[in-house]
Amino acid sequence: MVSTQSVDVTSGLRYLPKSTNSLEKSSPNQELLPLTTKVNDLDHLEIGGWDVPALVDKFGSPLYIVDEYTLRTACRQYRDGLKKYYPGESLVLYASKAWSSLAICAICASEGLGIDVVSGGELYTAIQAGVSPDRIYFHGNNKSLAELTFAMEIDCIIVVDNWLELETLAALKNQQKEQLQNPTKIMVRFTPGIECHTHEYIRTGHIDSKFGFDPNQLNDIFAFISKQELLSLVGLHAHIGSQIFEVQPHQDLISVMVDVMVDAMKYNLPIKEINIGGGLGIRYIEADDPPSIETWVRQISIAMVDACEARQLPLPRLLCEPGRSIVGPSCVTAYTVGSQKQIPEIRTYISVDGGMSDNPRPITYQSVYQSLIANRLSYPTTELVTIAGKHCESGDILIKNATLPVTQPGDCLVVMATGAYNYSMASNYNRLPRPAAVLVGDQEVNVILQRESYQDLLSQDTLPERIAMFPKLTT
Ligand SMILES: Cc1ncc(COP(=O)(O)O)c(C=O)c1O
Repeated sequence: MVSTQSVDVTSGLRYLPKSTNSLEKSSPNQELLPLTTKVNDLDHLEIGGWDVPALVDKFGSPLYIVDEYTLRTACRQYRDGLKKYYPGESLVLYASKAWSSLAICAICASEGLGIDVVSGGELYTAIQAGVSPDRIYFHGNNKSLAELTFAMEIDCIIVVDNWLELETLAALKNQQKEQLQNPTKIMVRFTPGIECHTHEYIRTGHIDSKFGFDPNQLNDIFAFISKQELLSLVGLHAHIGSQIFEVQPHQDLISVMVDVMVDAMKYNLPIKEINIGGGLGIRYIEADDPPSIETWVRQISIAMVDACEARQLPLPRLLCEPGRSIVGPSCVTAYTVGSQKQIPEIRTYISVDGGMSDNPRPITYQSVYQSLIANRLSYPTTELVTIAGKHCESGDILIKNATLPVTQPGDCLVVMATGAYNYSMASNYNRLPRPAAVLVGDQEVNVILQRESYQDLLSQDTLPERIAMFPKLTT
């Protein structure tokens, strides 16, 4: 194969985690590969003790491979970091939009995390995974009546986003006044006016955002809530964006939120919880350099203590809701290499058996990833290629300018750090069945999501009889 630009020749070995001798100290979000990743005697990539090409042979391709150790380590670093650095109470919520599934929600809950959900479907998943409703926080800028009723019935905490929702909730509660009911716990989400350097579509804290109350509505909101017997305001919420590599925006956010806490007190609404959202970034490519989970947690803890001391306020329960940095680094996607196309002096395309349907981030956000060939890890990366998906879409490119060894059809190509916003944003575009996901642990490999079949693709299709009866024209 001819590459069209010069390449720095190294090998896939350079992506292996740095500090394999003290795993629990490595911050998953600073690694490109799960913490348990190694190269084995066959020169194959191994995750959680399992040979990756062999997993693909057994469970099919493409395949999401989730490393349980890395997932649990990320949960523990948030949970234990807050216990260590924050003198008040704290709770970490896993933002399940990053990947909502029974197994992932159950693992996070078993590590003591609560769950943040944004739809009836995510709420249902969390409940079915066994998460206790008092640890579920329900977000969303346009919750339906059915979703609000469901949330009220199971008695989770509702993060109120706008006036319509607040008035609807108040009306729903008042309608049922006779049936002796507990107040529904709510939080108020507002846009704090904090800018952070990330993609426009994943920035949410600036004033021109569809999420949350405008700050100048807050006095009216507090006045309204203070008159509601059946709504109990427990806290404030704000989320400023995702894939953030600085700590400062969250420190600034804390200061803004504590000021709002003071405002709420004027309406006799003591704020017990402050939820500063998620957003900590992860390493997708070697150039990415996010702060570690521990550093981030330490800095935000200090910021909260300082802000409350300065205003002589008691410490609220501190909540954060990371998604990407919990699940992103624990997973890779393994594909099988198929056709190749060389365009002399321009580019070489290598096509794989998935693409924008299992990972829509490159086409949606121009997100960048890195890859390796898992069955020849130490081979020199002499080729500069473009990795294309198999969809009928020119933009279906997973990675531009990937450096790989010479590849052959049948090679196992791994894209790193695909745990967040891949499966959860996956589609059946071109009627591709969604891949399976396996969880690799010390002793076992478990399928946590079955591969879809062609029958699954048709499971919601119906063919009305009168249409089925139409003669099929052949001319
Ligand atoms: C309200 C809210 N909380 C938490 C998150 C999780 O963010 P991240 O995955 O960047 O940690 C998001 C994602 O954008 C969000 O919108």
